Amino acid sequence: MSGTLETKIDIHSEDFRANAEALRARTEEIRALWSKIAQGGGAKNRALHEERGKLFVRDRIKLLLDSGSPFLEVGAFAATEVYDFEAPSAGVVCGIGLVHGRPVMIVANDATVKGGTYVPLTVKKHLRAQDIALENRLPCIYLVDSGGAFLPMQDEVFPDRDHFGRIFYNQAQLSAAGIPQIACVMGSCTAGGAYIPAMSEETVIVRGHGTIFLGGPPLVKAATGEEVTPEELGGADVHTRQSGVADYAAVNDEDALRIVRRIVANLGDRSAPKMDGFMPSDSGELGANESKPTGKSPLNISTSGCGNYQEPLYPAHEIYGIIPESTSKSFDIREIIARIVDGSHFHEFKPDYGTTIVNGFASIYGYPAGIIANNGVLFSESALKTTHFIELCTQRQIPLLFLQNITGFMVGKKYESSGIARDGAKMVHAVSNANVPKISLVIGGSYGAGNYGMCGRAFGPRFLWMWPNARISVMGPEQAANVLATVKRDQLARDGKDWSAEEEQEFKNPILRDYNLRSSSVYSSARLWDDGIIDPADTRRVLGMSLAVCDRTGDRPTRYGVFRM
Ligand code: COA
Repeated sequence: MSGTLETKIDIHSEDFRANAEALRARTEEIRALWSKIAQGGGAKNRALHEERGKLFVRDRIKLLLDSGSPFLEVGAFAATEVYDFEAPSAGVVCGIGLVHGRPVMIVANDATVKGGTYVPLTVKKHLRAQDIALENRLPCIYLVDSGGAFLPMQDEVFPDRDHFGRIFYNQAQLSAAGIPQIACVMGSCTAGGAYIPAMSEETVIVRGHGTIFLGGPPLVKAATGEEVTPEELGGADVHTRQSGVADYAAVNDEDALRIVRRIVANLGDRSAPKMDGFMPSDSGELGANESKPTGKSPLNISTSGCGNYQEPLYPAHEIYGIIPESTSKSFDIREIIARIVDGSHFHEFKPDYGTTIVNGFASIYGYPAGIIANNGVLFSESALKTTHFIELCTQRQIPLLFLQNITGFMVGKKYESSGIARDGAKMVHAVSNANVPKISLVIGGSYGAGNYGMCGRAFGPRFLWMWPNARISVMGPEQAANVLATVKRDQLARDGKDWSAEEEQEFKNPILRDYNLRSSSVYSSARLWDDGIIDPADTRRVLGMSLAVCDRTGDRPTRYGVFRM
């Protein structure tokens, strides 16, 4: 076995052409959706924002980052079609980019979306960004321009554990863990929101635009009768000269971002994660790519930090033609791996055993990864092989990369009696306790217990990305409709009633519609069940950057629990 994957795909076949057409079309739909989302709160709000002399949120981020830095955006599709009003990206842009060559997590309010206020998914997204920062030891930069809690939904943003207060709790925890917290107040920062700059280690405020106060002028007037302007109550002079809530006054947005860059330049070496060799270039995230005038330049990675590597032998765009439009058609997952990993080199583990899952060692931009990729339904052997493979990776401290395309574990009398649940549980144990960075990418379906074994959201992957065609739900639409129809038919039979084939189909139709709607990549990403939808052709770059960002300083030997034997 040479260890280099050879393709068997006929790129001139009719199947290839049809597959490519379908997946490209879906990818373009997502790209168009992102272009709309990137406009934020619409023309009227943008015009007002501009009139006030403020930069748009994505322009702020661009200025803050090194020229040409990649930007790995997280949660770009948050809140899409979730509420009965529009809240593009949930009114906050989050992602990882480079400042003075150092990866940082940026959390930037978009004041054009409901005054930058926090709807439930804004809170969830802010907390997710802080989680990523904590796990990967990324300094946090908060570009604040927000009216605080979205008051009509206060019961869903304020009182619970993972609500607004958690943002400040996290800031304290991150700071205590040596992960720098920096705030730049570029607009309103009201009530609870005032704690973001106050809890930060260093804070910049823009004169004339930035205000920080626990209660705004109307509240003060109502409470005490005192009449005061926002600037007098909590502007840059008050906070940098008198209160000490902020440390640096900036004359405008550009000046403020320059000061933040200087702060980052002086962070010292503590908590510096390695993102070796990622030179300023382009991001892999579908949305972020769109904003680059040059389109898709490849990540320019030096060979110094992460060793020598070769590009895959086959072009990334061929991925479109490999994935069948119908999820019931199979394909060889090695064809995808061959288009993602360095030199298409793949040292496959136990290639002749448990063949419905493919495990093996490879690297992406020189970053090693143990790949676990579905190639059919999971059987006991596939679960056992993968448990063994995870043990190898944790022993060797190699990050795990999951490529999910899984309907679930095999069902039926034969499989239950031979203990498929017991063997599946071993895999779930191993995935849960594996103390190496884990990254998941859903390339097809992610259904049922297959999602657990393959490191779904509940299993703490450092990043979870979706392809545009990906789907996630407890089971497939057909299966759900059939299960519920069977239950219904049995109930009717108990009552001595008949059920015609037409009636059964009528019963199933809304279930099928509902499952199709609620399992799509946009539905998932809108609710932050994942970190974003990526262009399949960008997979190598997104996974490379995800691996590069993973901090390893917290790695300890893995300790597994009790496996049921
Ligand atoms: N809750 C819900 N919606 C709010 C809001 C809040 N706290 N603050 C602002 N909004 C909404 C407005 O209703 C408006 O919605 P629309 O676009 O559907 O009309 C939108 O945000 C923009 O508000 P507007 O006041 O027109 O914009 P602005 O840029 O002039 O001012 C703020 C923005 C945030 C400075 C200002 O609205 C404000 O001070 N809000 C109150 C903030 C507050 O007291 N929050 C308490 C948090 S605990």
